[in-house]
Amino acid sequence: MHIVHSINDLRHTLQGAACRAFVPTMGNLHEGHLKLMRMARTAADQRATASPQNAGKAMTVASIFVNRLQFAPHEDFDSYPRTFERDCEQLKANGCDVVFAPTEKDLYPEPQVFKVHPPAELADILEGAFRPGFFVGVSTVVHKLFNVVQPDIAMFGKKDYQQLMVIRRMVQQMALPIEIIGGETERANDGLALSSRNGYLSVEERAEAVQLSLALKTMIAKVKEGLTSSKLNIAAIEEHAMQTLRERGWQPDYMTVRKQHDLSPVSKITTDPLVVLGAARLGKTRLIDNLEII
Ligand code: PAF
Repeated sequence: MHIVHSINDLRHTLQGAACRAFVPTMGNLHEGHLKLMRMARTAADQRATASPQNAGKAMTVASIFVNRLQFAPHEDFDSYPRTFERDCEQLKANGCDVVFAPTEKDLYPEPQVFKVHPPAELADILEGAFRPGFFVGVSTVVHKLFNVVQPDIAMFGKKDYQQLMVIRRMVQQMALPIEIIGGETERANDGLALSSRNGYLSVEERAEAVQLSLALKTMIAKVKEGLTSSKLNIAAIEEHAMQTLRERGWQPDYMTVRKQHDLSPVSKITTDPLVVLGAARLGKTRLIDNLEII
C-alpha cells in the first residue's frame, strides 16, 4: 500500500489505473469506513475485470484529511481524533492500495477562496441549520478530492444521510463522471450507529447513547401506525421523540420525519419513501443517526 501526501505524488501513483474507487475519510476509522473500503475494492475489481484489457489495473484510494473548512470555530477540529498509523494498518488489511493523506498545506496551499455552495433548500436544513457552512466545507473538499483522485466510483456512508444527498446532487449537477455508492450504517451490538465521535462518550454516556436510535425506531413505528390508520400527526411524533430524549438528559437539535428523495418535510399522508433523522447532544458529544422507513 502506498502512502502519499502531495497531489503530485498521488497523481503519479495513480497513473495507469483503469478503475479508481475512492473512500474519503477524516481518519479515526471504524468498521463503517472499513466496510466502505471493502466495497470499494470489490467494485473496482469488478469494473476492471469487466473489460479484459483492464484486468488487474483497479486501484482503491482512501483519503485521510481532517478538513478544517467543515468545522465551525467552536467545534472539535483541534481535538478531532487523529490515529494515522492504526488507520493505515486497517486500510491495508481491507483492500486499500493508496492512502492519500495531505497536510493542510498540500490540499490548501493558499486560502481556499473558491468554494462549492450547495443549494440552501438542501444544505441549510437539518445539519446545515445547526452547523452553518458545514456543507460548503464538505462539498468544497469533496469536489477538490474528486479532482485530484479522479475516481470512477466513490463510497459514502448513509450514517451521514444528508451529506450523501448533497454529494449525489453535486455530482449530478456538475456532471462529474463518478458513481456514488451509499453504504449502510454500521451499528454496535446495542444499535448505536458507529461514529468517530462515539469515542468522546464516557462509560455512562455510551450506555445511554443507544437511546437515539431507539427514539428513531419509535418514530418509525408511530409513522407506520399513522399511515395505516390515516391519522398521521408528524409534528406530534417529532415532539414526542424530542421530549423523550430531553427527559433522559439529552439536548436534541432535531428529530424529524422527511422524504427520502429531497429531505423535505412531510405534511400529509404520502406514499413517498420516508426517513427519520435525528441529532442530539449527550453531554459534550453531538450524535446523529437516521433510519429509512421501509
Ligand atoms: O464524512 C466525512 O468523514 C467527511 O465529511 C468527508 C466526506 C471525508 C469530507 O471531509
